[in-house]
Amino acid sequence: MRVLVTGGAGYIGSHACQRLLRDGHHIVALDNLHRGHQQPMDLLKSQHPDSFDFIHSDLGDTETVLGALNAHNLDTVMHFGALAYVGESVEDPLWYYRNNISSAIGLLDACDQCHDGKGISRFIFSSSCATYGNPPEDKIPVPEDCPQSPTSPYGYTKLHMEHILKDYAQKRSIDDNPIALTMLRYFNVAGSDRSGMLGEDHTPETHLIPVAIEAALGKRESLSIFGTDYPTPDGTNVRDYVHVEDLIDAHVLAMHTVERGQVEAFNVGIGEGYSVRQILDSVKRVSGVDFPVHDAPRRAGDAIALFNNPTKIKSTLGWEAKITDIDEIVKTAYDWMKDHPDGY
Ligand SMILES: NC(=O)c1ccc[n+]([C@@H]2O[C@H](COP(=O)([O-])OP(=O)(O)OC[C@H]3O[C@@H](n4cnc5c(N)ncnc54)[C@H](O)[C@@H]3O)[C@@H](O)[C@H]2O)c1
Repeated sequence: MRVLVTGGAGYIGSHACQRLLRDGHHIVALDNLHRGHQQPMDLLKSQHPDSFDFIHSDLGDTETVLGALNAHNLDTVMHFGALAYVGESVEDPLWYYRNNISSAIGLLDACDQCHDGKGISRFIFSSSCATYGNPPEDKIPVPEDCPQSPTSPYGYTKLHMEHILKDYAQKRSIDDNPIALTMLRYFNVAGSDRSGMLGEDHTPETHLIPVAIEAALGKRESLSIFGTDYPTPDGTNVRDYVHVEDLIDAHVLAMHTVERGQVEAFNVGIGEGYSVRQILDSVKRVSGVDFPVHDAPRRAGDAIALFNNPTKIKSTLGWEAKITDIDEIVKTAYDWMKDHPDGY
């Protein structure tokens, strides 16, 4: 297939480009490089000179996106491009709504107008378990029909985008020109590609596993656990960590399985929860470094336990996480960060 990957220079988007190129698809990555990196784009271009192109642009630049969709005859969009930090979204919600919604509508305009108004055929959207907010206890593990009630502007940008996309898909069906729409609600994505070429390089970094690895590598003096009195086995928050390559597998399956006229939402998480302490223990085991850890008060809005009920994605797409051992997930992230002490 011929795929536009927005946010292609970011952590997950670059892994998607790599996998799709390996599978023989034609890929155009688009990124404004606000949080992404030129280096993975150059690496992918050097390996796949004829089937990969990178466009440095904002996804809200409808003319540029339209030009790319038409010039490369792209039929599918994987939309990863977004700002993705909960805390930052609370501090500057309008920036988040402008980037994650207004710009995305610019992208959708291009998706609608391309190919002489016929538009694209498939759209796969990076949604988030943040759309569920703090699910009620009887909805843990979380199924797709759990009420969506975000607790942050970031979560709302994802939920609003789901609604906008569903409305757009409905319009395409009414026009007798249906689109295949998949919304993948990721849990915590972790790890790096096992060939060692791509990794996670965020500034600032807020995700637990890379932050803990930074402590193990001596780039941070210590680490704080926010909340140690939660009603969980060891008192710390519990989350579901899915390896980035397994996550991309879900995109590939959705691309091949969901048909035009279908609108589907799937959670992507392994279905098992790990506590903050379990993750820190894993990073200590993998790195062999016993970095200092401090207990700190709870942070407002943090859900107690969030992990996936993978029943729907298993039965519909046949997706199952292949890398479920937490040490194995952590090791892929650790190896890349150790080999790239200053990131890309
Ligand atoms: N990492 C996770 O655990 C996680 C969990 C749930 C959902 N998600 C979603 O997955 C997607 C990818 O996340 P990531 O961790 O790779 O983040 P990332 O920041 O590494 O990648 C996002 C990329 O999008 C680009 N981008 C942002 N706004 C843009 C715009 N207006 N125009 C062009 N490019 C733009 C950034 O420069 C960056 O390269 C995001 O939509 C995020 O919300 C991530």
